[in-house]
Amino acid sequence: MRVSGAKNAVLKMMAAALMTSGRCVIRHVPVIRDVDTMIALMRWLGAGVSWDAQGNLCIDASGVDGVEAPEQLVRRMRASVLVMGPLLARFGRVRVALPGGCAIGPRPIELHLRGLRQLGATITEERGFVEARARRLLGAEIHLDYPSVGATENLMMAACLAQGTTVIRNPAREPEIADLQLFLNKMGARVRGAGTDAIYIQGVDGLAGAVHEPIPDRIEAGTFMVAAALTRGDVVLQNVIPAHVEAVAAKLREVGAAVEEAGPGALRVRADQRPRPVYLRTQPYPGFPTDMQPQFMALLSVAAGASIISETVYTSRMKHADELRRMGADIVVDGQVAIVRGVRRLTGALVEASDLRAGAALILAGLSAEGETVVEGLHHVDRGYEAIEAKLQQLGAAVRRLAEDVPVADGRPLVRA
Ligand code: EPZ
Repeated sequence: MRVSGAKNAVLKMMAAALMTSGRCVIRHVPVIRDVDTMIALMRWLGAGVSWDAQGNLCIDASGVDGVEAPEQLVRRMRASVLVMGPLLARFGRVRVALPGGCAIGPRPIELHLRGLRQLGATITEERGFVEARARRLLGAEIHLDYPSVGATENLMMAACLAQGTTVIRNPAREPEIADLQLFLNKMGARVRGAGTDAIYIQGVDGLAGAVHEPIPDRIEAGTFMVAAALTRGDVVLQNVIPAHVEAVAAKLREVGAAVEEAGPGALRVRADQRPRPVYLRTQPYPGFPTDMQPQFMALLSVAAGASIISETVYTSRMKHADELRRMGADIVVDGQVAIVRGVRRLTGALVEASDLRAGAALILAGLSAEGETVVEGLHHVDRGYEAIEAKLQQLGAAVRRLAEDVPVADGRPLVRA
């Protein structure tokens, strides 16, 4: 199968495009709901956004005159807060609805706001909105208490148009941040150090349009790597950067799967035995990614022994354990730690996705379970996976999407072993 462009790179580049009146083109953008939401937000702000015939996104932010991200769009997608840095940098003002908590825990934006204050912004919060103002942002030395991905990106973008130099210490090191740095520099920004322990931004007076091909989606790649291991299959993934999925590959080898490079930009994943139990601890990049934790819990549910999963990034990202239990998994959750006692095989059931990656995990579980599984809540999955059932069918999976209105109470098959 071929991996799509990275959702968590594309969304930030779209926000960055708001900083210039030049035209930006982001190539081969995945057709997913989060991209639709960000397009809606950008059009709300006055930007022209359109797809061309090759699946590239063309953005013209010359007409942007709005600086407010409305409640209903921010609630739908937390990443909407990433327009704060760009709009504040370009217009000196921005007003964003505070993101609600979501299925994986309270997700405040304190680190974003503290950094913007250090860049000279005046921040006020009232009636569920946060407003930031600054005549001109001034470069600063910022130290993040936690390597937050969003805070790093928001502050990187804001600092591009600040006066003077900004240093962000203890930044997130995810590959999507290095990709954003590349895009910003193509726009005329002067950013360096992404992926290391400090990011340096030399402010400039203005930015121009740019064309960029985002990196492949390492979490989609990881999801299909786990699918291959869970079904004891033999799968080649195209459009992969092996270094970006190293933590997942290492864990898959530890459970007994074979993961090897299969030519440039391709990985082959095979398994022919029951997974071995492991100790899994999610951490900021380059540690094991939290966005792969639910999928790995599905895999370890059928391991030959007991595994421990420790979720250190989010306070409550274990809801998928309840649904896996409905499929016969033996999982005990205590706060941010789960004990997973492997069973020989899961059994199909009607289960409900609570968030994007939990939904993916349940689909994977259904692929290996005995009998038929129906996964409800596909709108969560469609936020970040482009045509997931088509990609799985291409690999031989017996899976199909039910029309929304089909009553699922009669257990009509969606995912069959
Ligand atoms: C990004 O979210 C990703 N989303 C998430 O992927 C991913 O899980 C997360 O990074 C961690 O890798 C996008 O890139 C759009 P954080 P983000 O700021 O930026 C706490 C997916 O499945 N925190 O690194 O929101 C926060 O509550 C999504 O594609 C604060 O407390 O992640 C969380 O517990 C899900 N205060 C932790 O840090 C802050 O000011 C990590 O958050 C900011 C964050």
